[in-house]
Amino acid sequence: MSEETTAAPPVRHWPALDLTGVDFDPVLSELMREGPINRIQLPNGEGWAWLVTRYEDVRLVTNDPRFSRAEVIGREVTRLAPHFIPQASAMNFVDKPDHSRLRRAVNTAFTTRGIERLRANAQKTLEGMVDEMLRDGPPADLIDRVLAPFPITVICELMGVPATDRHTLHTWTQAILSSSQGAKVSEQAKRDMEAYFAKLIAERRGATGEDVTSLLGAAVGRGDITEEEAMALAGPIQIGGEAVTNNTGQMLYVLLTRPALFDRLRDEPELRPGALDELLRYIPHRNAVGLSRIATEDVVLRGVRISKGDPIYVSYLAANRDPDVFPDPDRIDFERGTNPHLAFGHGPHYCVGGMLARMEQELIVNTLLDRIPTLRLSVSEDEVPWRRGALIRGPEALPVTW
Ligand code: HEM
Repeated sequence: MSEETTAAPPVRHWPALDLTGVDFDPVLSELMREGPINRIQLPNGEGWAWLVTRYEDVRLVTNDPRFSRAEVIGREVTRLAPHFIPQASAMNFVDKPDHSRLRRAVNTAFTTRGIERLRANAQKTLEGMVDEMLRDGPPADLIDRVLAPFPITVICELMGVPATDRHTLHTWTQAILSSSQGAKVSEQAKRDMEAYFAKLIAERRGATGEDVTSLLGAAVGRGDITEEEAMALAGPIQIGGEAVTNNTGQMLYVLLTRPALFDRLRDEPELRPGALDELLRYIPHRNAVGLSRIATEDVVLRGVRISKGDPIYVSYLAANRDPDVFPDPDRIDFERGTNPHLAFGHGPHYCVGGMLARMEQELIVNTLLDRIPTLRLSVSEDEVPWRRGALIRGPEALPVTW
């Protein structure tokens, strides 16, 4: 362990801000200016937690087994979310080696091959949604017509959820993610989703399909994971699938409010792969910070002692603006050479759906730019409504015309 040389910084209150647009959280900016390691108190939970914001520290903390996710269960760590209902066997709250075993059960659905298997159907679905929107004519809400329904369809297909149940799964997802409907509604939705997946997975025991519930059924059949673990794996994947809506909503907001960027991407398609990564780096995907970790022993980081039992957060958003890794980090630069952004996290808890999200975003951006080259906002920039009280940031509607 390296030596403790620096006193703990003061505890800073981080209020829940209802930020609009893609502005970087001013509290986070201030924390980053104050130093690489901070202590924060969020609106809910108890006490304070450490926060690291530098790229290298974020990679270290997220990849070091001395910081545990499993230990978070049962603790009232200071947090943004008003209610906190962790599912004990869900992959977000399990440490190695169990975590690797759980992810292995669904891994083949998320490999390049697993994702590419979905591409042709996804493209067809998307074309159908755009056809309908064009047929109905402008103005249209891009969230309602494309950015919400498309990821739901894709994630349900990946999960092996029948088309008739998609709406129900979407309703549960929204209730679980929303703080405005209260903890009871969220808890009920979580139980309903668990029961739904328990039944679907039980029916698929010994199945040979490539969808996630078939993979889970097969893994239970082989004894690799328990029924409870299978159910707890399905929920976060289903829910995570809808993260694409908000993230891509922010992406399109950036393009629609900066016509020079929109025009370049429309006219120079070869820039798009790099541009998507640059937008992923730049977009403030969430409010405040996500799930914490707990130190399982004393660790000295940049001369500051993190004591055993202390909660610690990382900010992937802050890491993505670290000037040591991304020169001129507040500028959107489609021609940044390498772009090792952490939009999908780092370490063992790296986003399961990263490649899927990237594929969906590629299809959405390509299809919209190629098919609707005159796409633009139909309201002024400040009239775009943003989600309030949300954990994940995004526009509630994107009114467009063409
Ligand atoms: C642009 C869209 C998305 C973004 C920006 C995003 C971001 C992230 C981040 C930063 C993490 C890691 C958090 C940590 O350190 O614990 C994560 C984890 C996760 N994501 Fe995503 N995600 C996206 C889309 C998706 C999709 C489409 C799915 C489902 C297919 C998904 C499912 C998950 C799951 C299940 C985890 C937990 C992984 C684990 O703990 O092992 N996400 N995501």
